[in-house]
Amino acid sequence: MNLTVVGAGFVGLVTAAVFADFKNEVWVLDNDEGKIKKLSSGKIPFYEPGLKDLIIKNFKSGRLKFTTDYAQAIPNSEIIFICVGTPNKDGKIDLSYLYAATKAIAQNLKEPTIIAIKSTVPPGINQKLEKWMKKYTKGDFDLVSVPEFLSEGQAIENTLNPHRVVIGTEKRAVIKKLLKLHQSISGERLICDAVSAQMIKFAANTFLPLKISFANAIAILCDKFGAQADKVLKGLGMDKRIGDQFLGAGIGYGGSCFPKDLKTFIKLSSQVGYNFHLLKSAQKINDDQIDYFLKKLTYLIGGSLKGRRITVLGLTFKPKTSDIRESRAIAIIKELKKKGAKIHVCDPIAIPEAKKLITRVKFFENPYQALKGAEALLLVTEWEEYQKLNFQKIKKLMKKPLVIDGRNIYNREELEKLGFIYEGIGK
Ligand code: UDX
Repeated sequence: MNLTVVGAGFVGLVTAAVFADFKNEVWVLDNDEGKIKKLSSGKIPFYEPGLKDLIIKNFKSGRLKFTTDYAQAIPNSEIIFICVGTPNKDGKIDLSYLYAATKAIAQNLKEPTIIAIKSTVPPGINQKLEKWMKKYTKGDFDLVSVPEFLSEGQAIENTLNPHRVVIGTEKRAVIKKLLKLHQSISGERLICDAVSAQMIKFAANTFLPLKISFANAIAILCDKFGAQADKVLKGLGMDKRIGDQFLGAGIGYGGSCFPKDLKTFIKLSSQVGYNFHLLKSAQKINDDQIDYFLKKLTYLIGGSLKGRRITVLGLTFKPKTSDIRESRAIAIIKELKKKGAKIHVCDPIAIPEAKKLITRVKFFENPYQALKGAEALLLVTEWEEYQKLNFQKIKKLMKKPLVIDGRNIYNREELEKLGFIYEGIGK
């Protein structure tokens, strides 16, 4: 099929690369000329396992093409995916990219076309958008919702083997065509109206952080009651009705989706007269988790952090990505700076990104160098290399053998045997 993906961000590029690999002809369209130029020369704007190879392979085959020109891509496309950002600006969802993209699509429509929104949008927006587009075209189009659930660091795997494919339209011919396009992708299918599809996306992206915040609250109580959070949460997750995923206690969630979608959904709920205090509590627990983590540090280091050498391991919001948006590391480093600590930060791939955001810290790619002379190790992102550190070596490098484990990945007994003071969250 002939497809266009509007928006060369994370979701757009992954979608385009996977569908091109399934032998579709795919245009990737973005207003950002610099980005399109870079993509055309094989440069991917972020790190995602396997994505670069998939893009280059399909670009070379001629099935994947990049453009900034709507007139080039839109007229021949049977299905257009909208993958533009819907950021939260000053507490409100910013739909300007969505309106600009739908206007430009409308102005270039020639044949009957399916326009499938993957971006996270307010439930029920399609009616408004249809009216808006009809101002700019007499062409025939179906505006539907096919929300995206992929997760950074495993985006290709998630796209090929999703838990479900949600198709938000009630028109039979459109459902048939979208099912055909997704035939090589596994996972259950759910067909529903567009508003419900859009609700599913918000419900999923707010339920998961709710689960994480619940786990974090339980972990704090484990600290207070003297229980073991890892065991407690494992026992909780063994109940199949609850499930064991997204019950990892630690310093909380970050990234480009959960914090933004919680904020947006709380606002959208209040606009229709519902006070979603459950989600507000999840947010508050997440915000407070940084403070809880740093209080442990202050207590164990013996008071003030002024002038103390602290090493932060991990900058990204989770492993296997170069994304530092809303990363807990940034919030932690900010707080450490306020308290006058001397900070070493270490990350395997995000240092170039981080240098644009963080100043007055020393950056290291090598954790052992970063830990020389440190009075505390703060594990913030559970990169694989940090899970396999040689603590015997580290013991000799650090000035004080203190480990504060923000992701509960280390074994207390092993570290204590080596002479470390170990503290996790709820452990
Ligand atoms: C998320 C959703 O998983 C995905 O379905 C949606 O499409 C986009 O948002 P992503 O932001 O890539 O994906 O990351 P995810 O793996 O969900 O993790 C988000 C944050 O939660 C990370 O900071 C992670 O460290 C944290 N987390 C995750 C926990 O603190 N505990 C857990 O048990 C799981």
